[in-house]
Amino acid sequence: MISPGFLFTFEGIDGCGKSTQLALLREYLSSQGVPCESFREPGGNIVSESIRDLLLHSDHPITPTAEVFLFSAARAQLIEQDIKPRLEQGITILMDRFFDSTTAYQGYGHGVMDADTLQKLHPFATGGLLPHRTYIFDLSVVEARSRTQQQEKDRIEQQSEAYFERVAEGYRQIASTASRYMILDASRPIGELHDAIRGDVTSWIHPAQGE
Ligand SMILES: Nc1ncnc2c1ncn2[C@@H]1O[C@H](COP(=O)(O)OP(=O)(O)O)[C@@H](O)[C@H]1O
Ligand SMILES: [Mg+2]
Repeated sequence: MISPGFLFTFEGIDGCGKSTQLALLREYLSSQGVPCESFREPGGNIVSESIRDLLLHSDHPITPTAEVFLFSAARAQLIEQDIKPRLEQGITILMDRFFDSTTAYQGYGHGVMDADTLQKLHPFATGGLLPHRTYIFDLSVVEARSRTQQQEKDRIEQQSEAYFERVAEGYRQIASTASRYMILDASRPIGELHDAIRGDVTSWIHPAQGE
């Protein structure tokens, strides 16, 4: 029987370094012969990418409550269609955002629902799937902004600084709620962060060598 793949998720405000670290980890795992694929949320397939386009580029206002359900719909499609079948085939999956983003952005950021209510909602979208490990990149809003100032901002990135402060604080709260979270000081150099993540991932994927 094939052992199921591992699921690692990357979380934090825009500019904190998620995509950078995900790409480095993917490159490392591939070099070690670990079957590995990555997906971004919202997105990852035609239906979920269409929902992404609506969420990030709609010219019409989308209410925060509608956001919760649109993100959840994109997630449900991605999990059922793409993630679960791959995990069952033993493929390790790296995700650039997962349901913790909804808790942070719509829950803590917009105050749509409290975190407990959102935690009850997420399993409907995910089928109860939980990451083995979630890396939360903690960075000040000011530093994150300075890293992304040249980039064009999508609908969600155009929110106020106060909103992102609530999101960043939300992530710190989330990080303390379960042992699967590993919070990282995202102001550290890229190579140091990669080494920390690599060390942690190796303890999951090669438990015998992690000692
Ligand atoms: N640890 C780091 N220190 C300094 N700059 C970084 C670090 N990690 C990423 N960056 C830079 O910050 C910007 C945003 O990184 P990115 O990985 O795209 O963040 P995210 O995917 O979380 O939005 C990029 O220009 C990237 O090169
Ligand atoms: Mg990114």
